[in-house]
Amino acid sequence: MKHLCTMGVTALLSCILCLSGCSLSDNRPPSKLIKNEAKIKSIIKKMTLEEKIAMIHGKHMFTSAGVERLGIADIIYADGPFGIREEMEPHSWHSLGLSNDSSTFFPTGSALAATWSKDLAYTYGKSLAQEARLRGKDMILGPAINIQRLPTGGRTYEYLSEDPFLNAQLSVGYTQGVQDNGVAVCLKHYALNNQENNRGRVNVIVNSRTMREIYLLPFEAAVKEADAYGVMAAYNKVAGDWCSENDLLLNQILRNEWKFKGMVISDWGGVHHTVNAALHGLDVEMPNSRFFGQALLDSIQAGTVPVSVIDEKVRNILRVRFAIEPIPAEEANKTMTAQPEQLRVAYDVAAKSIVLLKNKESFLPLNLNQYKKIAVIGENAIHKQANGGYGAGVKALYEVTPLEGLQAKIGDQAEIAFSQGYRGFTGQERISHISPYSEADPKLLQEAVKTAKNADIVLFIAGNNREVETEGSDRTQMTLPSGQDEVIKAIAAVNPNIVTIVVAGAPVDLSVVEAYSSSIVISWFNGTEGGNALADVLLGNISPSGKLPFTFPVKLEDSPAYALNNYPQTTTETGGDKNVAVYSEELLVGYRWFDTKGIAPRYSFGHGLSYTTFEYTNLQTKKEQYGSNESIDVTFELKNTGEREADEVVQLYVHRLDATIEWPFKELKAFERVSLKGGESQTLTLTIPVSKLRYWNEDNHKWILEHSEIELMLGSSSSDIHLTKKVKI
Ligand code: BGC
Repeated sequence: MKHLCTMGVTALLSCILCLSGCSLSDNRPPSKLIKNEAKIKSIIKKMTLEEKIAMIHGKHMFTSAGVERLGIADIIYADGPFGIREEMEPHSWHSLGLSNDSSTFFPTGSALAATWSKDLAYTYGKSLAQEARLRGKDMILGPAINIQRLPTGGRTYEYLSEDPFLNAQLSVGYTQGVQDNGVAVCLKHYALNNQENNRGRVNVIVNSRTMREIYLLPFEAAVKEADAYGVMAAYNKVAGDWCSENDLLLNQILRNEWKFKGMVISDWGGVHHTVNAALHGLDVEMPNSRFFGQALLDSIQAGTVPVSVIDEKVRNILRVRFAIEPIPAEEANKTMTAQPEQLRVAYDVAAKSIVLLKNKESFLPLNLNQYKKIAVIGENAIHKQANGGYGAGVKALYEVTPLEGLQAKIGDQAEIAFSQGYRGFTGQERISHISPYSEADPKLLQEAVKTAKNADIVLFIAGNNREVETEGSDRTQMTLPSGQDEVIKAIAAVNPNIVTIVVAGAPVDLSVVEAYSSSIVISWFNGTEGGNALADVLLGNISPSGKLPFTFPVKLEDSPAYALNNYPQTTTETGGDKNVAVYSEELLVGYRWFDTKGIAPRYSFGHGLSYTTFEYTNLQTKKEQYGSNESIDVTFELKNTGEREADEVVQLYVHRLDATIEWPFKELKAFERVSLKGGESQTLTLTIPVSKLRYWNEDNHKWILEHSEIELMLGSSSSDIHLTKKVKI
């Protein structure tokens, strides 16, 4: 693979520069939040200092106070991002045990991202908002949009993608879907919360170009393009300061540059100082008043925090309060949270998220005339994934497991025999720090072999569960847990017809599975309807159309932060300081690294097969050269050359040809999900605004366009490019 550029070159020698302010269009309509400024001003005048202070910290675990005397309702938060969390006791993490707060468990972040559909992200957000309204909530604590920097990152399953553009598109869709339906979002975790180990102390060292182009871009897009009303400050530090007291992130970038008008809340327990947090942009301390209660009153009285700063915070909160219609307590929780419409959306997202990684000799879809005895092997076939691990889960109205989905859809067309195969990793083991990477359980392994021997085909349901992938800690390896590799080897010795289904939210090591499986499918932590969607894909009722939102490396050491010893932080160039995370891979995150360095991944970003085939022809642009305010329309024909109706996700990457500054080998700049009937073709246009091709210039602190020749690369994945064309910008 071609190495376009080497890191470290900053000279801008011969290029002509085009200076401008922001990466995203600033011709945006004014924020809906600033409609009530006069009213807010007069309310602030009427408020006592104590009332103001009461408003800017947690009142209950998921509530911050309004002012009853002035008819201003509390703000009620719904923990997200993939379902409305059940009702909790006011001051603990215990469930209230209500009977009608069961909600839809939506596919988690990486599954949503695998749909590559802004429309589905919108519908997902809309559905969450509808459920939140039934529960009287004002703000959803989501979307969670940090970049998946590490394959092992504990919250990879909650986050969307390793690519900032895909991430940004989905974040905008999700945000608009939520906010168009009467609820505020809270973008989290701002910013650079890319690892869970030591997240409360780790200090991220990243250059500003990388920060802007990779890590902040999804936040910037959701603020500017979708008018996000809320932002949650992350637990970690960036450039030496905790995110909850980070003047650069909160005041300079979010407020001053991006013109964010909403409210910034802390992550739960993520505040460290009163004065710094107060002066540097935090509006609400959650979930209690340790720093923004009496301590803040004392600081005001001592003159270290001016009242005007408190008034700003109150104003930010009131803007959101007036943009969101409060729901009286007596009207909330009247009906069951999960409703058929939202359950259907959970199915749609799951169905379009499933990724077919490999399909040797069109082994899938399953031919039930040929396979009359099906062995379903693996604990994940019966494991529910709505809860588990540390952090927000969902009290799901129901969750269809893979086994239940297969049983329901196969009915009496074939015989299904289930065998557990391996022991699922448990919460107790996690708490006791027992490793999930144990050997196989000999008894379960033996039973699995017996079941496999008597079957025509094996569906091996492998993967992680939510005790393995969890908030609060990263995985130590990508290996499949609980001795699953041993299990598949033993099964393969007695039955070579194996389809492996990986239930996981993050990349796993597929080297063993790959050798023994005819087909491999990724079916994610896929929500309430996950088992039904999986069965429909395996049986060919629908064609798979999900695409990987992140790279599957062959081995962990191939991935950038590991390759450069930046993670785990015990062997870094900073002398083994585990409190410092150096992002020296810079822009080369995910596929940008693999492409630029010429390292072949196991499966590339954007990869996903179908039961049909697509043909890409006739790529055209109207012009050969584009100005900085123009857009490049890339037109081409897409034909479904098979017989089945199916979706394809067309992906457009940009490769810089004669650039003088450093660039990753190629970058995703446009994509679209398209549905085509068998034999159907369509003319499609993907658009890249030239302004989105700018880079962050560290010297000028500006987005700048480097005039150069670029190659437009159109394909069905980052490694499967079908058509190219060169133009100048
Ligand atoms: C998580 C947040 C979450 C909050 C409330 C924190 O530990 O980082 O994402 O919204 O808890 O549950």
